[in-house]
Amino acid sequence: MVNPSILITGILALASVALGHGAAETEAGIEARNVHVANARRSIEACQNKLKARSIENRRKIKRDAFVKRYQKQNQKRAATATAVAAATTVDPFNGAIPTCVLAPEEEIGPYYLSGELIRDDIREDEPGVDMLLDVQVFDVSTCQVIPNVMLDFWSCNSTGVYSGFSAENTLGETQLRGLVESDEDGIVQVLTKFPGHYGGRATHLHLIAHIGGSISSTGTYSGGTIPHIGQVFFEQSLISEVEATSPYNTNTVAITLNSVDRVFTEQASVTAGYSDVVTIKKLGSALSDGLLGAISIGLDLTANKSTGSGSGTGTGTVTGAGGAPTGGMGAPPS
Ligand SMILES: *[C@@H]1O[C@H](CO)[C@@H](O)[C@H](O)[C@H]1NC(C)=O
Ligand SMILES: *[C@@H]1O[C@H](CO)[C@@H](O)[C@H](O)[C@H]1NC(C)=O
Repeated sequence: MVNPSILITGILALASVALGHGAAETEAGIEARNVHVANARRSIEACQNKLKARSIENRRKIKRDAFVKRYQKQNQKRAATATAVAAATTVDPFNGAIPTCVLAPEEEIGPYYLSGELIRDDIREDEPGVDMLLDVQVFDVSTCQVIPNVMLDFWSCNSTGVYSGFSAENTLGETQLRGLVESDEDGIVQVLTKFPGHYGGRATHLHLIAHIGGSISSTGTYSGGTIPHIGQVFFEQSLISEVEATSPYNTNTVAITLNSVDRVFTEQASVTAGYSDVVTIKKLGSALSDGLLGAISIGLDLTANKSTGSGSGTGTGTVTGAGGAPTGGMGAPPS
């Protein structure tokens, strides 16, 4: 039985990352976070037992299995030879463990967030690279209830380190690898994306934020409500190396930043002993082209409302907005 990995996302103020010159965090800030993390950890541990007792874990496993099977069927159809991809798996790759992600009290969003993106559960579009299925569950840390109708908003760079939707990236009007998915009655969100590539100064990571209580306009964009969570998740270095060795990831000549020296990763690690912000990932077959499955659980503090800040742009879902050009420092992603 694998120990549940406890994840903490985006503990650190990412504005400093965006600007490339992080202001040192105040002692008070670190202290507040430590207290928060300790509380959140207790809540999560308590919740895990309750979730188990309510057979929520089991329903999640059944839905996760169905998600994988749907994907594998689709993938087999797409593959030139059906034998090239793994047959549907019946084994729970996580061996029953719930990977848990504890929300952090103070995070900023980074320079590449766009609001108003498309609501859809497959955000790959035509991006090449390794498919990644994410099985996410959100629950309320104060009640341990799973939360339906949470809009999870995902975004990441593509296999060669470029974000869609930004003029500075020459990607204005593009929407790939961005999208929102609403949690179901079990608080579950399933999204199909690509394993991210990398760009200068940052380790491989994926962004996600949680929205609650907003509404969907007639043009299909989501807005309003509150944002109880803003975070980033990371991946095992060995998995990153394996993916980066394959095409098209390996056409990106920008030096890889290891997790161990990534500012956000290391600052999170230094204040969150016993936790990991690395997504638990399993391969769905022997080849990377069989896809990857990752699981994340997020405990939300529904009283929190975080700001997406002034650095974020307007989504390409409906608007031609300029996006927020990343402001220097970290080295522009390759184009
Ligand atoms: C990554 O995205 C950029 C912008 O859309 C695109 O030019 C580039 O070809 C993409 N990388 C690959 C490997 O397709
Ligand atoms: C949440 O914060 C945003 C600004 O960051 C604000 O516009 C919104 O009104 C807030 N929502 C509530 C319910 O307080």
